[in-house]
Amino acid sequence: MVFRTVTPGCYSIAALDFDRRLFDALIPLPDGTSYNAYLIRGSQKTALIDTVDPSKELELVSDLVRLGVDSIDYVIINHAEQDHSGSLPMVLELFPSSKVVTNEKCKDLLIHHLDLEEDRFITIKDRETLSLGNKTLEFIIAPWVHWPETMLTYLREDRVLFSCDLFGMHYATSDLFLKDEKTLYTAAKRYYAEIMMPFRASIKGHMEKIGALDIEIIAPSHGPVHNNPGFILNAYNEWISDSVKNEVVIPYVSMHGSTRKMVDHLTIALIERGIAVKPFDMTVADTGNLAMSLVDAATVVIATPTVLFGPHPQIVYATYLANMLHPKVKFASIIGSYGWGGKTTDVLKAMMTHIKPELLEPVLVQGLPREASTRGLDRLADDIARKHKEIGLLPP
Ligand code: FEO
Repeated sequence: MVFRTVTPGCYSIAALDFDRRLFDALIPLPDGTSYNAYLIRGSQKTALIDTVDPSKELELVSDLVRLGVDSIDYVIINHAEQDHSGSLPMVLELFPSSKVVTNEKCKDLLIHHLDLEEDRFITIKDRETLSLGNKTLEFIIAPWVHWPETMLTYLREDRVLFSCDLFGMHYATSDLFLKDEKTLYTAAKRYYAEIMMPFRASIKGHMEKIGALDIEIIAPSHGPVHNNPGFILNAYNEWISDSVKNEVVIPYVSMHGSTRKMVDHLTIALIERGIAVKPFDMTVADTGNLAMSLVDAATVVIATPTVLFGPHPQIVYATYLANMLHPKVKFASIIGSYGWGGKTTDVLKAMMTHIKPELLEPVLVQGLPREASTRGLDRLADDIARKHKEIGLLPP
């Protein structure tokens, strides 16, 4: 673990996990991740903001000891998920007089997930403050980023916002502040797509409260600290907006090449109509890249062969995932090849319960795509172009 100064008296204690490749047994981590705790030494009291993943708890404790932290008065818990709270039991054992400071909902979750005693808690309400002497912590309840109990902690005198998972990224780096904005943007967008996108509406409300704060630094629970808060706030405002881009995402699987031919034909037809296309072969695609592409795309076309009587299982997974992530796509369609029949379109349509896109007429063909089916794909490309024109993504 590393211990670095964010502002005088405020330190980042980050457990860097360069080698982790999967999170929540679901999310690929091409760049590893970090679990960030923060220590704040006030003139009278000391607070630890969040802990780290339990796999790193010995590193956290040995760092606190090595750095001469002989007492912690308060452990502020912004979020109960175990990658931030999992080392709390060990911290409470090591510092038996310390109290856990959090909101009522988070307290309930922590007791259930970590089997903690109720008398270790101090519960706070929205906008309550806690004095550490010369430093003041203000708590901002911000549910659904991305659990129901999440909150933010604002260090008033230093103008630092500890934002829990919000504004974070799965990116392990030895830099406290990352200056490469392209890397920062991509990693943050990927994280937003995988973790925050389903809660776009909640985040919109929180952004107004955050915008009213005077912030110099945003210190999230994963990845580097933001010393240019405008950059990440502007990116989030773009992603949570209602605007979409002139893009079509095509998650596809092909068993014997027919569906692949259809994807290739549609891709070219869309490009010829001035539309950007992002095809993903779901047998090899990184689901994080698929999720990221769904942040802005106006349209998704699901391309699948029919296996037995329905869509290919990899496409069922991709559709379930996309629906769960609740992107703001406005239009959707289905294309693919079948052997003898099936209910592929019905199955996939029934899975889009959250997205609720306007469905453009699917193109399903038996066996090889021939002239009639390529005409169908051209018609679909025309439909998509017309819809994109109607919402101003293409010139009339
Ligand atoms: Fe990084 Fe929701 O925990």
